[in-house]
Amino acid sequence: MASLRFQQFLLVLLASFLLLSCTVKADNDEEENLFKSINSYRASLNLTAFTENDNAECLADKIADQFKKQPCTNTTGSYTVPGTESQFSKYPQFLEKCHLNINDTKNGVIMPVCVPKLDPALVLTNFTQTQYSAYVNDTKFTGAGVGSEDDWIVMVLTTSTPGGAFSPAGSAASVSDMGFTFLLISSFLGFFLAL
Ligand SMILES: *[C@@H]1O[C@H](CO)[C@@H](O)[C@H](O)[C@H]1NC(C)=O
Ligand SMILES: *[C@@H]1O[C@H](CO)[C@@H](O)[C@H](O)[C@H]1NC(C)=O
Ligand SMILES: *[C@@H]1O[C@H](CO)[C@@H](O)[C@H](O)[C@H]1NC(C)=O
Ligand SMILES: *[C@@H]1O[C@H](CO)[C@@H](O)[C@H](O)[C@H]1NC(C)=O
Ligand SMILES: *[C@@H]1O[C@H](CO)[C@@H](O)[C@H](O)[C@H]1NC(C)=O
Repeated sequence: MASLRFQQFLLVLLASFLLLSCTVKADNDEEENLFKSINSYRASLNLTAFTENDNAECLADKIADQFKKQPCTNTTGSYTVPGTESQFSKYPQFLEKCHLNINDTKNGVIMPVCVPKLDPALVLTNFTQTQYSAYVNDTKFTGAGVGSEDDWIVMVLTTSTPGGAFSPAGSAASVSDMGFTFLLISSFLGFFLAL
């Protein structure tokens, strides 16, 4: 009797676990879908596929999170009139959280799109048939990261040049590490000179 209860309990646990992993997966599916569709689109234009950039994805996630409460209108997302984009006041914090240096992101582009329920066909055409197509068509961009929240999906494009590579700020940190080592060596030398 008790073991039957236990089996039922295990079954419920398993079912809820499966359900949970399914919903989690569904969320990533939209991002993965867009990535694949954009690369097929690039291939149809004889352009190289975008490679996945984890730091760009981190930034895309943060920006999607900031937008998620806003409803879709004809002036949001890909319909934003150029030059009137709301500035991301939290941009410096996002960069910090994603371990990025602003100087390594300035040549990238951030493209937020709002589509009810993230309908895959509409999401794709919002990137390929709007003002964003100028960037998606561009050979200059070589990498991308996608993030989504509710009706919002954000794609961040990166370049392979230092101004837009979205490489972790670690490369900048190593410069200061070197400075630190240099300082250590010179004080060490100073120590010897003092002797
Ligand atoms: C892509 O390349 C193929 C073969 O080189 C060519 O036939 C096709 O017209 C090209 N398409 C575009 C959109 O440039
Ligand atoms: C957006 O929609 C409103 C009405 O809902 C309309 O007055 C306005 O002209 C539209 N704007 C654009 C840019 O299409
Ligand atoms: C970015 O570059 C500017 C000018 O080269 C420099 O003054 C600034 O300190 C750099 N910012 C960071 C975070 O490295
Ligand atoms: C972009 O998405 C909106 C929904 O927010 C949709 O109404 C519109 O048709 C889409 N535009 C394109 C070019 O696919
Ligand atoms: C991007 O390429 C597509 C397909 O060649 C074209 O229809 C579209 O106008 C291009 N976009 C821009 C902004 O040039």
